[in-house]
Amino acid sequence: MPMPLSARSDRGSTHSQPKATFSFRCIGCAAISASAAQDFRCSECGNLLEITDPAWKSARADALKSIWLDRRSSNAFLDLSGVWRFRELLPAPDSADQVISLREGNTPLYELPQASRITGISRLYAKHQGMNPTGSFKDAGMTVAATFARQAGYRWVACASTGNTSASMAAYAARGGMRSLVLVPDGKISWSKLSQALDYGALTCQLRTDFDGCLRLLQELVRRAPVYQLNSINPFRLEGQKTLALELMEQLDWQPPDHIIVPGGNLGNSSAIGKALLEMLDLGLIPRLPKLSVIQAEGANALVRTLREGGGKHLVSVQPETRATAIRIGNPASWEKAVRVIQASGGACDEVSEIEIAQAKAEIGAEGIGCEPASAVTLAGLKKLLRQGFVKPGETVVLVLTGNLLKDPDFTMDFHRGDLFRDTVNERDTASLKRLRHPPVVLDATLDAVIETLERAENSDPHAL
Ligand code: F0G
Repeated sequence: MPMPLSARSDRGSTHSQPKATFSFRCIGCAAISASAAQDFRCSECGNLLEITDPAWKSARADALKSIWLDRRSSNAFLDLSGVWRFRELLPAPDSADQVISLREGNTPLYELPQASRITGISRLYAKHQGMNPTGSFKDAGMTVAATFARQAGYRWVACASTGNTSASMAAYAARGGMRSLVLVPDGKISWSKLSQALDYGALTCQLRTDFDGCLRLLQELVRRAPVYQLNSINPFRLEGQKTLALELMEQLDWQPPDHIIVPGGNLGNSSAIGKALLEMLDLGLIPRLPKLSVIQAEGANALVRTLREGGGKHLVSVQPETRATAIRIGNPASWEKAVRVIQASGGACDEVSEIEIAQAKAEIGAEGIGCEPASAVTLAGLKKLLRQGFVKPGETVVLVLTGNLLKDPDFTMDFHRGDLFRDTVNERDTASLKRLRHPPVVLDATLDAVIETLERAENSDPHAL
């Protein structure tokens, strides 16, 4: 059935610019093509595409470092973006006027003193991508992919999402004058993320399926209707997300950490970070590769099982279940890309329990930073990798926090009120979680009541970690 959508708007570029130098390369058969089909799969073998550009190789490391540094004091539109500041290693749009930016990137690298004490890792940092304009790492990729969607003349962009992609896509579409279609699993994403998509004006469909079902449907939709898909299958997304690693290395004065630990869901982000690290090594921007490790929730551990049971050769899908809804994914699209970068960097892949996630999330909150549950798998995973001896106390570790604390207030409230694991945890776990809980206290509005509560808090066990 034809859909009443026009494939191209009448915008069109009025600028004559040099032709793009980038192309698409299949990660399976390495076929190179100048354009990509709607599903971003290789026309020869069906595998995923990535973007490559010979111009990137001609850049000189020292010159790049100094250009990027200079741009930090510039007020030019492109330089204010923590993504486009690194444009020498991104696909170039026809014109700078095409760029849709919300000043994404430029995210802080925090030290984590309390988690350092807990883990014994003295150089422990969090790269907080939750400090992006829509509150998650998705913005870094979305600015690039939305720009290319608009340049191609699309009126509609679409994604399947566990919440953050849809919030980000809706914002960039609105900013760029495009319409957006969001497919999310009904009842399985946080209200906070859903409300963002609504406010940014997306056409939001809550489908009675899970994320994987939404993504399957989107793949069929893009074959039938002129909508541009902005899931991380779209290789422009991954190009933008590479800048997380570039900015991180710049913040560490180009001294790579020993480990970077990242949550794994659909596996676009780990693939993007890995691609950036390999390109940086190739260009001489860094002297060696950090180990890139991916952590999943036990209930959504497709990549863990793919490596453990399938040797990384074929995908082992799972029926996903976790309260970290952002990574409630059983059939990750970019699993092959992720396997490659984990193996190339010598990283690990592991899983953590729901209790470990909740505990780590509260510990990151206690640093005065906070993050959403999916991001907390990184600290929980670090503790596990330390116990296994894969990470050593003397090493430098960076945790990638992917989403803001405010992304999932229900989880946080349930945790502090003691409702998150009601009836499901043993006594030892209950005690360790209780230390981290700070439930609100309801009182009569009298000075005595407040002072009494204050004294009780002062005399009770300190919440020291
Ligand atoms: N952390 C957060 C906060 C996320 O939202 C996601 C993915 C991930 C980690 C996993 O990243 O998929 O690149 O491996 N969220 C997607 C979404 C799936 O639709 O918002 P990944």
